[in-house]
Amino acid sequence: MNRIFFRFFVLVMLSITVATFVIYFAMSRLFGDPLDDIARRQAAAQIFLIEQYVDRAPTDEWLVRLNKVREVSDINIDLIPLAQARKALHPQLHEALERGDVVLDVARKAFYRRVDLYGNHYVGSADDVIWAQDLPIDIGLALKMEAVRYVIVALALLIPIALWSRTHWTGLQQLSRVADEVGAGQLSARAHMPPSASIYPLAERINHMAGRIESLLGAQRNLIHSVSHELRTPIARLEFALELLRSASDDPALEQRIAAMEGDVAELNGLVNELLNMIKLDSGTALQLSTVPLRALLQGCVDALPPSACALQVDLQAADATVQADPRLLARAIGNLLRNAQKYCEGQIGLSARAGSTVQIMVDDNGPGIPADQHARVFEPFYRLDRSRDRATGGFGLGLSIAHKAVALHGGTIRIEASPLGGARFVISLPARADRPAS
Ligand SMILES: Nc1ncnc2c1ncn2[C@@H]1O[C@H](COP(=O)(O)OP(=O)(O)OP(=O)(O)O)[C@@H](O)[C@H]1O
Ligand SMILES: [Mg+2]
Repeated sequence: MNRIFFRFFVLVMLSITVATFVIYFAMSRLFGDPLDDIARRQAAAQIFLIEQYVDRAPTDEWLVRLNKVREVSDINIDLIPLAQARKALHPQLHEALERGDVVLDVARKAFYRRVDLYGNHYVGSADDVIWAQDLPIDIGLALKMEAVRYVIVALALLIPIALWSRTHWTGLQQLSRVADEVGAGQLSARAHMPPSASIYPLAERINHMAGRIESLLGAQRNLIHSVSHELRTPIARLEFALELLRSASDDPALEQRIAAMEGDVAELNGLVNELLNMIKLDSGTALQLSTVPLRALLQGCVDALPPSACALQVDLQAADATVQADPRLLARAIGNLLRNAQKYCEGQIGLSARAGSTVQIMVDDNGPGIPADQHARVFEPFYRLDRSRDRATGGFGLGLSIAHKAVALHGGTIRIEASPLGGARFVISLPARADRPAS
């Protein structure tokens, strides 16, 4: 709020400042310097005295009157040669001086005026100039008044700008919250604001977009859910029929065939189960949170691993933390990464953890690794890197997608790095709980 408000306020004040200067220069050019005008008004008494009292004196009395003025006046009045006056004044003012006008020098609080144009008052008076100094000119006061005016305008503008920014800011904050929530998978999030709000049309569009995304994803989820459910019955029937066939057959060749078919049916069953699991994670209702000691959780994952030719290095020394998690779901995600490591390793895999401001769980292997441009894609359902290699290793390409969703439901992330063992490293980051168990 502060940023948007101050930016706008500074912009408005800058515009007003620029406008003030433009107005000043335009006025000076068109109608003369306004400061000159103020100074002339402030020195009006002294100018009046010279013009009305000294100038109107008969020729022989002119100098007497000038001296009288010098005696009674607070200001210094001198007669100087025209050349000296010209030197002291800006060239732009020379013409006015020559003409016999009163020429003000605001900065030095002085004015200059030729005694006369034809040497009427005394011999050579046409070449002399009356120079009055220490005039009661105070431009500072005028500038102070301008500054006060400027500050009052600024303060008066502050209020509507603050009100304007506040309404916009709260609206924008609401929209950004909705965008965050929809992005995080909470598709029912909507912005609520009155139709009179200035960003109401934008909020309406975002709500409409969120609604469309929700209904599209809902329809897709329902479709996968229904298909998977529908497949369960024929699969069960097939399993039963194969069982019957096996018991009725005494032909070893046929039995071998039946065993292969049972394997296929089991794989199909596994796929349907994985799909249903994924749908459950998508709906976000699968989480049963509790406080879980990290080390015990990871040890459980290691114990549940199937036997493998790869040597497993476990380093849980720094795993001294608890996490707020659904232990079954998190163990599944970690188990998936470990089984992948077993599948793709070339003799060595590793599991380690680090607890700090976040909890990091690292699964390493010394297999072929995953190219950087595929890091995001391997988390997509059914995506597999190398189809020929992956066919040999089995699996559906759903494991990482399920692990990713499970970790995201815990407020965490999974990223892929190059492993110090030479293959891929999967790093799960989870928010740590503040309290730690005594070790
Ligand atoms: N540790 C790894 N090293 C190299 N490639 C990997 C590794 N882990 C995953 N992959 C690649 O990512 C793809 C997706 O992995 P994912 O776990 O989703 O599927 P899967 O293991 O093939 O099958 P599933 O887990 O469903 O049984 C894999 O097919 C494989 O190509
Ligand atoms: Mg897998």
